[in-house]
Amino acid sequence: MTVPAGGWQVHRLVPSGTEGAPDADTATWIRAMAAAFLGPRPTPESVATQAATMAGQRLRGVYEPGDTAPVATLRSWDARMSVPGGEVAADAVTSIGVRATHRRRGLLRAVLVDDLAEAARAGTPVAALTSTQGSLYERFGFGVATWTRALRLDTRAAVFRDPGPTGRLRTLDPAGFAAAAAPLQDRARRRHPGAMDRSAASWTTLISGGVYDSSPRYAVGWSDATGRPAGYVVYGVAEGWWSTGSATLAVHDLQATTPESYRELWRHLCSLDLAGTVTWSEASVDEPLPWLLTDPRAVRFDGPREMLWLRLLDVPAALAARRYPVADRLVLRVHDPAGHAAGTWALDTTDPVAPAAGPTDAEADVACDAATLGSLYLGGVDPRVLARTGRLDELTAGAAGRLARLLAPPSVPWNGTRF
Ligand SMILES: CC(C)(COP(=O)(O)OP(=O)(O)OC[C@H]1O[C@@H](n2cnc3c(N)ncnc32)[C@H](O)[C@@H]1OP(=O)(O)O)[C@@H](O)C(=O)NCCC(=O)NCCS
Repeated sequence: MTVPAGGWQVHRLVPSGTEGAPDADTATWIRAMAAAFLGPRPTPESVATQAATMAGQRLRGVYEPGDTAPVATLRSWDARMSVPGGEVAADAVTSIGVRATHRRRGLLRAVLVDDLAEAARAGTPVAALTSTQGSLYERFGFGVATWTRALRLDTRAAVFRDPGPTGRLRTLDPAGFAAAAAPLQDRARRRHPGAMDRSAASWTTLISGGVYDSSPRYAVGWSDATGRPAGYVVYGVAEGWWSTGSATLAVHDLQATTPESYRELWRHLCSLDLAGTVTWSEASVDEPLPWLLTDPRAVRFDGPREMLWLRLLDVPAALAARRYPVADRLVLRVHDPAGHAAGTWALDTTDPVAPAAGPTDAEADVACDAATLGSLYLGGVDPRVLARTGRLDELTAGAAGRLARLLAPPSVPWNGTRF
Protein backbone atom coordinates (compact mmCIF):
# COMPACT_ATOMS: atom_id res chain seq x y z
CA MET A 1 0.00 0.00 0.00
CA THR A 2 1.36 3.46 -0.91
CA VAL A 3 0.99 5.97 1.87
CA PRO A 4 1.19 9.71 1.16
CA ALA A 5 3.06 11.90 3.65
CA GLY A 6 1.30 14.40 5.92
CA GLY A 7 -2.31 14.80 7.09
CA TRP A 8 -4.76 12.06 7.92
CA GLN A 9 -5.65 10.35 4.71
CA VAL A 10 -8.27 7.64 4.93
CA HIS A 11 -7.66 4.56 2.81
CA ARG A 12 -10.36 2.14 1.79
CA LEU A 13 -9.67 -1.58 1.67
CA VAL A 14 -11.74 -4.29 0.09
CA PRO A 15 -11.13 -7.50 2.05
CA SER A 16 -9.98 -10.24 -0.27
CA GLY A 17 -7.90 -13.40 -0.27
CA THR A 18 -8.21 -17.06 -0.92
CA GLU A 19 -10.21 -19.44 1.28
CA GLY A 20 -8.83 -19.30 4.82
CA ALA A 21 -6.06 -16.81 4.00
CA PRO A 22 -6.91 -13.09 3.94
CA ASP A 23 -4.76 -10.65 1.98
CA ALA A 24 -1.92 -9.01 3.93
CA ASP A 25 -3.58 -5.58 4.28
CA THR A 26 -6.78 -7.10 5.70
CA ALA A 27 -4.81 -9.28 8.15
CA THR A 28 -2.79 -6.26 9.35
CA TRP A 29 -5.97 -4.20 9.64
CA ILE A 30 -7.60 -6.92 11.82
CA ARG A 31 -4.58 -7.06 14.15
CA ALA A 32 -4.55 -3.26 14.54
CA MET A 33 -8.27 -3.17 15.28
CA ALA A 34 -7.95 -5.94 17.89
CA ALA A 35 -5.15 -4.02 19.66
CA ALA A 36 -7.21 -0.79 19.76
CA PHE A 37 -10.01 -2.73 21.50
CA LEU A 38 -7.57 -4.42 23.93
CA GLY A 39 -8.63 -7.78 22.48
CA PRO A 40 -6.73 -11.06 22.73
CA ARG A 41 -3.69 -11.37 20.47
CA PRO A 42 -5.04 -12.59 17.11
CA THR A 43 -3.79 -15.92 15.78
CA PRO A 44 -3.53 -16.73 12.05
CA GLU A 45 -6.68 -18.82 12.48
CA SER A 46 -8.66 -16.09 14.26
CA VAL A 47 -7.57 -13.53 11.66
CA ALA A 48 -8.78 -15.84 8.89
CA THR A 49 -12.08 -16.41 10.73
CA GLN A 50 -12.65 -12.69 11.17
CA ALA A 51 -11.67 -11.90 7.60
CA ALA A 52 -14.26 -14.40 6.37
CA THR A 53 -17.00 -12.44 8.18
CA MET A 54 -15.91 -9.25 6.40
CA ALA A 55 -16.45 -10.38 2.82
CA GLY A 56 -18.29 -7.67 0.89
CA GLN A 57 -17.81 -5.10 3.66
CA ARG A 58 -15.88 -1.81 3.64
CA LEU A 59 -12.71 -1.39 5.68
CA ARG A 60 -11.13 1.98 6.32
CA GLY A 61 -7.68 2.67 7.71
CA VAL A 62 -5.43 5.64 8.38
CA TYR A 63 -1.74 4.90 7.88
CA GLU A 64 1.40 6.75 8.81
CA PRO A 65 4.21 6.87 6.25
CA GLY A 66 6.42 3.80 6.50
CA ASP A 67 3.97 1.79 8.60
CA THR A 68 1.84 -0.94 7.03
CA ALA A 69 -0.42 -1.19 10.12
CA PRO A 70 -3.21 1.36 10.37
CA VAL A 71 -3.34 3.77 13.32
CA ALA A 72 -7.13 4.01 12.93
CA THR A 73 -9.74 1.52 11.67
CA LEU A 74 -13.43 1.51 10.74
CA ARG A 75 -15.61 -1.15 9.13
CA SER A 76 -19.05 -0.69 7.61
CA TRP A 77 -21.54 -2.56 5.47
CA ASP A 78 -24.96 -2.19 3.87
CA ALA A 79 -27.66 -3.40 6.27
CA ARG A 80 -31.45 -3.37 6.40
CA MET A 81 -33.04 -1.99 9.54
CA SER A 82 -36.68 -2.49 10.52
CA VAL A 83 -38.69 0.71 10.96
CA PRO A 84 -42.37 1.10 11.86
CA GLY A 85 -44.27 -0.44 8.94
CA GLY A 86 -41.23 -1.39 6.84
CA GLU A 87 -37.47 -1.22 6.64
CA VAL A 88 -34.74 1.16 5.54
CA ALA A 89 -31.23 0.75 4.13
CA ALA A 90 -28.61 1.53 6.78
CA ASP A 91 -24.87 2.06 6.81
CA ALA A 92 -23.88 -0.24 9.72
CA VAL A 93 -20.67 1.09 11.27
CA THR A 94 -18.34 -0.77 13.64
CA SER A 95 -14.68 -1.49 14.55
CA ILE A 96 -13.78 2.18 15.08
CA GLY A 97 -10.46 1.89 16.84
CA VAL A 98 -7.46 4.18 17.20
CA ARG A 99 -3.98 3.06 18.25
CA ALA A 100 -3.35 3.86 21.93
CA THR A 101 -0.45 6.18 21.04
CA HIS A 102 -2.51 8.15 18.51
CA ARG A 103 -5.65 9.06 20.39
CA ARG A 104 -7.25 12.55 20.53
CA ARG A 105 -5.69 13.73 17.30
CA GLY A 106 -8.83 13.57 15.20
CA LEU A 107 -8.48 10.03 13.81
CA LEU A 108 -11.92 8.77 14.88
CA ARG A 109 -13.30 11.90 13.26
CA ALA A 110 -11.33 11.30 10.05
CA VAL A 111 -12.52 7.72 9.48
CA LEU A 112 -16.13 8.31 10.53
CA VAL A 113 -16.64 11.53 8.54
CA ASP A 114 -15.23 9.74 5.48
CA ASP A 115 -17.54 6.73 5.94
CA LEU A 116 -20.65 8.86 6.48
CA ALA A 117 -19.85 10.97 3.41
CA GLU A 118 -19.59 7.85 1.25
CA ALA A 119 -22.84 6.43 2.63
CA ALA A 120 -24.61 9.74 1.98
CA ARG A 121 -23.26 9.85 -1.58
CA ALA A 122 -24.54 6.29 -2.08
CA GLY A 123 -28.02 7.45 -1.02
CA THR A 124 -28.15 5.41 2.19
CA PRO A 125 -30.82 7.14 4.34
CA VAL A 126 -29.42 6.30 7.80
CA ALA A 127 -26.23 5.23 9.57
CA ALA A 128 -26.34 2.98 12.63
CA LEU A 129 -23.84 1.91 15.25
CA THR A 130 -23.53 0.57 18.79
CA SER A 131 -20.96 2.19 21.04
CA THR A 132 -18.48 1.28 23.75
CA GLN A 133 -19.09 4.67 25.41
CA GLY A 134 -22.07 6.99 25.68
CA SER A 135 -20.38 10.30 24.90
CA LEU A 136 -18.67 9.62 21.58
CA TYR A 137 -21.12 9.93 18.74
CA GLU A 138 -23.62 12.71 19.38
CA ARG A 139 -21.11 15.20 17.95
CA PHE A 140 -21.36 13.27 14.67
CA GLY A 141 -25.18 13.52 14.55
CA PHE A 142 -25.99 10.12 16.13
CA GLY A 143 -28.76 9.86 18.72
CA VAL A 144 -29.71 6.92 20.95
CA ALA A 145 -32.70 5.22 19.33
CA THR A 146 -33.09 1.85 21.10
CA TRP A 147 -32.38 0.53 24.57
CA THR A 148 -31.91 -2.90 26.12
CA ARG A 149 -32.21 -4.27 29.65
CA ALA A 150 -30.19 -7.01 31.31
CA LEU A 151 -32.46 -9.79 32.51
CA ARG A 152 -31.80 -12.39 35.23
CA LEU A 153 -34.23 -15.27 35.69
CA ASP A 154 -34.29 -17.60 38.68
CA THR A 155 -35.35 -20.72 36.79
CA ARG A 156 -36.13 -22.67 39.96
CA ALA A 157 -38.63 -20.00 41.05
CA ALA A 158 -40.17 -19.71 37.59
CA VAL A 159 -43.59 -21.35 37.30
CA PHE A 160 -45.41 -20.82 34.03
CA ARG A 161 -49.04 -19.72 34.24
CA ASP A 162 -49.80 -21.78 31.17
CA PRO A 163 -49.26 -25.48 31.95
CA GLY A 164 -47.85 -26.47 28.51
CA PRO A 165 -45.51 -27.44 27.03
CA THR A 166 -46.72 -27.20 23.45
CA GLY A 167 -45.14 -27.71 20.04
CA ARG A 168 -41.80 -29.39 19.50
CA LEU A 169 -38.24 -28.51 20.49
CA ARG A 170 -35.20 -29.72 18.62
CA THR A 171 -31.51 -29.03 18.97
CA LEU A 172 -29.94 -27.23 16.02
CA ASP A 173 -26.48 -28.45 15.15
CA PRO A 174 -23.87 -25.90 14.02
CA ALA A 175 -23.88 -27.20 10.45
CA GLY A 176 -27.60 -26.60 9.99
CA PHE A 177 -27.95 -23.62 12.30
CA ALA A 178 -27.76 -20.79 9.74
CA ALA A 179 -30.34 -22.37 7.43
CA ALA A 180 -32.76 -22.88 10.33
CA ALA A 181 -32.18 -19.59 12.15
CA ALA A 182 -31.81 -17.03 9.33
CA PRO A 183 -35.44 -17.10 8.09
CA LEU A 184 -36.72 -16.97 11.69
CA GLN A 185 -34.60 -13.96 12.57
CA ASP A 186 -35.69 -12.27 9.35
CA ARG A 187 -39.35 -12.72 10.35
CA ALA A 188 -38.80 -11.84 14.00
CA ARG A 189 -36.85 -8.64 13.33
CA ARG A 190 -39.82 -7.12 11.49
CA ARG A 191 -41.69 -7.04 14.78
CA HIS A 192 -39.16 -4.62 16.29
CA PRO A 193 -38.24 -1.21 14.83
CA GLY A 194 -34.47 -0.89 15.05
CA ALA A 195 -33.73 -4.59 14.52
CA MET A 196 -31.05 -5.16 11.90
CA ASP A 197 -30.75 -7.94 9.35
CA ARG A 198 -27.81 -10.34 9.69
CA SER A 199 -25.01 -11.11 7.25
CA ALA A 200 -24.53 -14.71 6.12
CA ALA A 201 -21.22 -14.89 8.01
CA SER A 202 -22.74 -13.70 11.29
CA TRP A 203 -24.41 -17.07 11.91
CA THR A 204 -21.07 -18.83 12.19
CA THR A 205 -19.93 -16.22 14.73
CA LEU A 206 -23.15 -16.55 16.70
CA ILE A 207 -23.11 -20.34 16.98
CA SER A 208 -19.34 -20.63 17.52
CA GLY A 209 -18.83 -17.58 19.75
CA GLY A 210 -16.41 -16.11 17.21
CA VAL A 211 -12.81 -15.38 18.10
CA TYR A 212 -13.53 -14.02 21.60
CA ASP A 213 -15.55 -16.86 23.15
CA SER A 214 -14.55 -20.49 22.70
CA SER A 215 -16.98 -21.96 25.27
CA PRO A 216 -19.68 -24.21 23.77
CA ARG A 217 -22.94 -22.74 22.58
CA TYR A 218 -26.23 -24.58 22.28
CA ALA A 219 -29.06 -23.79 19.87
CA VAL A 220 -32.63 -25.01 20.20
CA GLY A 221 -35.47 -24.38 17.75
CA TRP A 222 -39.20 -24.58 18.38
CA SER A 223 -41.94 -25.58 15.91
CA ASP A 224 -45.69 -25.29 16.40
CA ALA A 225 -48.19 -28.16 16.29
CA THR A 226 -48.28 -27.98 12.48
CA GLY A 227 -44.49 -28.40 12.34
CA ARG A 228 -43.84 -24.79 11.30
CA PRO A 229 -40.60 -23.44 12.85
CA ALA A 230 -41.36 -20.29 14.84
CA GLY A 231 -38.33 -19.42 16.98
CA TYR A 232 -34.93 -20.35 18.33
CA VAL A 233 -32.62 -19.61 21.23
CA VAL A 234 -28.82 -19.73 21.43
CA TYR A 235 -27.25 -19.98 24.87
CA GLY A 236 -24.01 -20.88 26.58
CA VAL A 237 -22.73 -21.54 30.07
CA ALA A 238 -21.65 -18.36 31.87
CA GLU A 239 -20.89 -20.17 35.18
CA GLY A 240 -20.60 -23.95 35.43
CA TRP A 241 -22.70 -26.04 37.82
CA TRP A 242 -19.74 -27.97 39.28
CA SER A 243 -18.89 -25.54 42.09
CA THR A 244 -22.41 -24.49 43.16
CA GLY A 245 -24.58 -27.26 41.71
CA SER A 246 -26.43 -24.61 39.77
CA ALA A 247 -25.18 -23.28 36.43
CA THR A 248 -25.84 -19.82 35.02
CA LEU A 249 -26.76 -19.83 31.37
CA ALA A 250 -26.30 -16.77 29.17
CA VAL A 251 -28.70 -16.23 26.28
CA HIS A 252 -26.83 -15.00 23.20
CA ASP A 253 -29.84 -14.69 20.93
CA LEU A 254 -33.53 -15.41 21.22
CA GLN A 255 -35.82 -14.85 18.25
CA ALA A 256 -39.51 -15.65 18.53
CA THR A 257 -42.02 -15.00 15.76
CA THR A 258 -45.11 -15.89 17.84
CA PRO A 259 -46.13 -15.54 21.50
CA GLU A 260 -46.23 -19.34 21.77
CA SER A 261 -42.67 -19.79 20.53
CA TYR A 262 -41.47 -17.11 22.96
CA ARG A 263 -43.14 -18.88 25.89
CA GLU A 264 -41.89 -22.34 24.92
CA LEU A 265 -38.29 -21.24 24.39
CA TRP A 266 -38.27 -19.72 27.88
CA ARG A 267 -39.90 -22.85 29.26
CA HIS A 268 -37.08 -24.84 27.69
CA LEU A 269 -34.47 -22.63 29.37
CA CYS A 270 -36.19 -23.19 32.71
CA SER A 271 -36.29 -26.95 32.22
CA LEU A 272 -32.53 -27.58 32.29
CA ASP A 273 -31.82 -29.50 35.49
CA LEU A 274 -28.26 -28.28 35.99
CA ALA A 275 -29.09 -24.57 35.60
CA GLY A 276 -30.60 -22.26 38.22
CA THR A 277 -30.17 -18.90 36.52
CA VAL A 278 -30.58 -17.60 32.99
CA THR A 279 -29.24 -14.18 32.03
CA TRP A 280 -29.76 -12.15 28.89
CA SER A 281 -27.85 -8.90 28.64
CA GLU A 282 -29.68 -7.56 25.59
CA ALA A 283 -33.36 -8.11 26.39
CA SER A 284 -35.97 -5.63 25.21
CA VAL A 285 -37.12 -2.91 27.63
CA ASP A 286 -40.66 -4.36 27.41
CA GLU A 287 -39.66 -8.04 27.71
CA PRO A 288 -42.92 -9.99 28.26
CA LEU A 289 -41.32 -12.80 30.30
CA PRO A 290 -42.58 -11.74 33.80
CA TRP A 291 -46.16 -11.85 32.50
CA LEU A 292 -45.78 -15.55 31.69
CA LEU A 293 -44.94 -16.49 35.27
CA THR A 294 -47.02 -16.95 38.41
CA ASP A 295 -44.37 -14.97 40.32
CA PRO A 296 -42.99 -12.07 38.27
CA ARG A 297 -40.20 -11.60 40.85
CA ALA A 298 -38.47 -14.63 39.40
CA VAL A 299 -37.22 -12.14 36.77
CA ARG A 300 -35.01 -9.18 37.65
CA PHE A 301 -34.06 -6.40 35.26
CA ASP A 302 -31.22 -3.90 35.15
CA GLY A 303 -31.05 -0.90 32.86
CA PRO A 304 -32.27 0.37 30.49
CA ARG A 305 -28.97 0.78 28.71
CA GLU A 306 -28.53 2.56 25.38
CA MET A 307 -28.02 0.26 22.41
CA LEU A 308 -28.52 1.50 18.84
CA TRP A 309 -27.40 4.98 17.78
CA LEU A 310 -28.91 6.37 14.57
CA ARG A 311 -27.85 9.18 12.27
CA LEU A 312 -30.09 10.37 9.45
CA LEU A 313 -28.17 11.03 6.24
CA ASP A 314 -31.15 11.62 3.94
CA VAL A 315 -34.08 13.01 5.93
CA PRO A 316 -36.83 12.77 3.24
CA ALA A 317 -35.86 9.17 2.33
CA ALA A 318 -35.64 8.08 5.99
CA LEU A 319 -38.96 9.69 6.93
CA ALA A 320 -40.74 8.25 3.87
CA ALA A 321 -39.41 4.74 4.65
CA ARG A 322 -41.49 4.37 7.82
CA ARG A 323 -45.26 4.46 8.42
CA TYR A 324 -47.19 6.68 10.82
CA PRO A 325 -50.26 5.87 12.93
CA VAL A 326 -52.03 9.24 12.41
CA ALA A 327 -52.58 11.69 9.56
CA ASP A 328 -50.91 15.06 10.06
CA ARG A 329 -48.62 17.55 8.40
CA LEU A 330 -45.72 18.78 10.45
CA VAL A 331 -42.63 20.85 9.65
CA LEU A 332 -39.27 20.03 11.29
CA ARG A 333 -36.21 22.24 11.16
CA VAL A 334 -32.97 20.30 11.61
CA HIS A 335 -29.65 21.82 12.60
CA ASP A 336 -26.72 19.74 11.32
CA PRO A 337 -23.27 21.32 10.89
CA ALA A 338 -22.18 18.26 8.85
CA GLY A 339 -24.93 19.13 6.38
CA HIS A 340 -26.46 15.69 5.79
CA ALA A 341 -29.72 16.28 7.66
CA ALA A 342 -29.74 20.10 7.69
CA GLY A 343 -32.86 21.83 6.41
CA THR A 344 -36.53 22.46 6.95
CA TRP A 345 -38.56 19.37 6.16
CA ALA A 346 -42.30 18.89 5.75
CA LEU A 347 -43.66 15.50 6.79
CA ASP A 348 -47.12 14.78 5.40
CA THR A 349 -48.75 11.55 6.54
CA THR A 350 -52.23 12.13 5.15
CA ASP A 351 -51.74 9.15 2.81
CA PRO A 352 -51.14 6.30 5.30
CA VAL A 353 -49.36 4.04 2.80
CA ALA A 354 -47.25 6.72 1.13
CA PRO A 355 -46.08 9.38 3.59
CA ALA A 356 -44.36 12.29 1.87
CA ALA A 357 -41.33 14.17 3.16
CA GLY A 358 -39.39 16.94 1.47
CA PRO A 359 -37.86 20.39 1.81
CA THR A 360 -40.21 23.30 2.48
CA ASP A 361 -40.18 27.06 2.98
CA ALA A 362 -42.98 26.82 5.53
CA GLU A 363 -42.50 27.89 9.15
CA ALA A 364 -41.23 25.03 11.34
CA ASP A 365 -43.38 23.46 14.07
CA VAL A 366 -40.38 21.91 15.85
CA ALA A 367 -36.60 22.34 15.66
CA CYS A 368 -33.82 20.02 16.80
CA ASP A 369 -30.35 18.88 15.90
CA ALA A 370 -29.45 15.79 13.84
CA ALA A 371 -28.68 13.63 16.88
CA THR A 372 -32.09 14.39 18.40
CA LEU A 373 -33.74 13.50 15.10
CA GLY A 374 -31.85 10.19 15.17
CA SER A 375 -33.29 9.48 18.63
CA LEU A 376 -36.82 10.41 17.53
CA TYR A 377 -36.83 8.50 14.25
CA LEU A 378 -38.02 5.07 15.45
CA GLY A 379 -40.37 6.54 18.06
CA GLY A 380 -38.41 5.18 21.01
CA VAL A 381 -38.44 8.47 22.93
CA ASP A 382 -41.31 10.89 23.50
CA PRO A 383 -40.59 14.28 21.86
CA ARG A 384 -42.31 15.97 24.82
CA VAL A 385 -39.55 14.61 27.08
CA LEU A 386 -36.93 16.04 24.73
CA ALA A 387 -38.81 19.37 24.67
CA ARG A 388 -38.59 19.46 28.48
CA THR A 389 -34.79 19.17 28.24
CA GLY A 390 -34.35 21.75 25.47
CA ARG A 391 -33.23 19.09 23.00
CA LEU A 392 -36.36 19.85 20.94
CA ASP A 393 -37.79 23.34 20.43
CA GLU A 394 -41.58 23.42 20.23
CA LEU A 395 -42.21 26.36 17.90
CA THR A 396 -45.98 26.02 17.49
CA ALA A 397 -48.25 25.22 20.44
CA GLY A 398 -48.80 21.48 20.93
CA ALA A 399 -46.32 20.49 18.18
CA ALA A 400 -44.31 18.13 20.41
CA GLY A 401 -47.51 16.26 21.28
CA ARG A 402 -48.47 16.06 17.60
CA LEU A 403 -45.00 14.73 16.81
CA ALA A 404 -45.33 12.15 19.61
CA ARG A 405 -48.58 10.85 18.11
CA LEU A 406 -47.05 10.81 14.61
CA LEU A 407 -43.91 8.91 15.55
CA ALA A 408 -45.50 6.45 18.01
CA PRO A 409 -44.18 2.98 16.99
CA PRO A 410 -46.35 -0.15 16.78
CA SER A 411 -43.95 -1.92 19.18
CA VAL A 412 -41.06 -0.86 21.36
CA PRO A 413 -37.88 -0.31 19.29
CA TRP A 414 -35.32 -3.01 20.06
CA ASN A 415 -32.12 -4.24 18.51
CA GLY A 416 -30.75 -7.21 20.43
CA THR A 417 -27.41 -7.48 18.64
CA ARG A 418 -24.40 -5.30 19.35
CA PHE A 419 -22.14 -4.87 16.35
C1 LIG B 1 -12.81 6.11 21.20
C2 LIG B 1 -11.69 6.31 20.19
C3 LIG B 1 -12.08 5.65 18.86
C4 LIG B 1 -11.51 7.83 19.99
O1 LIG B 1 -10.59 8.04 18.95
P1 LIG B 1 -9.77 9.42 18.81
O2 LIG B 1 -9.02 9.37 17.54
O3 LIG B 1 -9.04 9.67 20.06
O4 LIG B 1 -10.97 10.49 18.68
P2 LIG B 1 -10.84 11.92 17.98
O5 LIG B 1 -9.52 12.53 18.33
O6 LIG B 1 -11.18 11.83 16.54
O7 LIG B 1 -11.98 12.69 18.75
C5 LIG B 1 -13.15 13.21 18.14
C6 LIG B 1 -13.93 13.91 19.21
O8 LIG B 1 -14.39 12.96 20.16
C7 LIG B 1 -13.91 13.29 21.46
N1 LIG B 1 -13.58 12.04 22.13
C8 LIG B 1 -12.74 11.09 21.70
N2 LIG B 1 -12.73 10.06 22.55
C9 LIG B 1 -13.57 10.36 23.54
C10 LIG B 1 -13.99 9.69 24.70
N3 LIG B 1 -13.49 8.49 25.01
N4 LIG B 1 -14.91 10.27 25.48
C11 LIG B 1 -15.42 11.48 25.16
N5 LIG B 1 -15.06 12.18 24.05
C12 LIG B 1 -14.14 11.62 23.26
C13 LIG B 1 -12.69 14.13 21.23
O9 LIG B 1 -12.42 14.95 22.34
C14 LIG B 1 -13.10 14.92 20.00
O10 LIG B 1 -13.99 15.94 20.43
P3 LIG B 1 -14.26 17.29 19.58
O11 LIG B 1 -15.49 17.00 18.79
O12 LIG B 1 -14.48 18.31 20.61
O13 LIG B 1 -13.08 17.51 18.70
C15 LIG B 1 -10.35 5.71 20.70
O14 LIG B 1 -10.04 6.25 21.96
C16 LIG B 1 -10.36 4.19 20.82
O15 LIG B 1 -9.92 3.49 19.92
N6 LIG B 1 -10.89 3.64 21.95
C17 LIG B 1 -10.91 2.18 22.19
C18 LIG B 1 -11.84 1.45 21.22
C19 LIG B 1 -13.23 2.01 21.27
O16 LIG B 1 -13.88 2.07 22.31
N7 LIG B 1 -13.75 2.43 20.10
C20 LIG B 1 -15.10 2.97 19.96
C21 LIG B 1 -15.96 1.90 19.42
S1 LIG B 1 -17.67 2.33 19.45
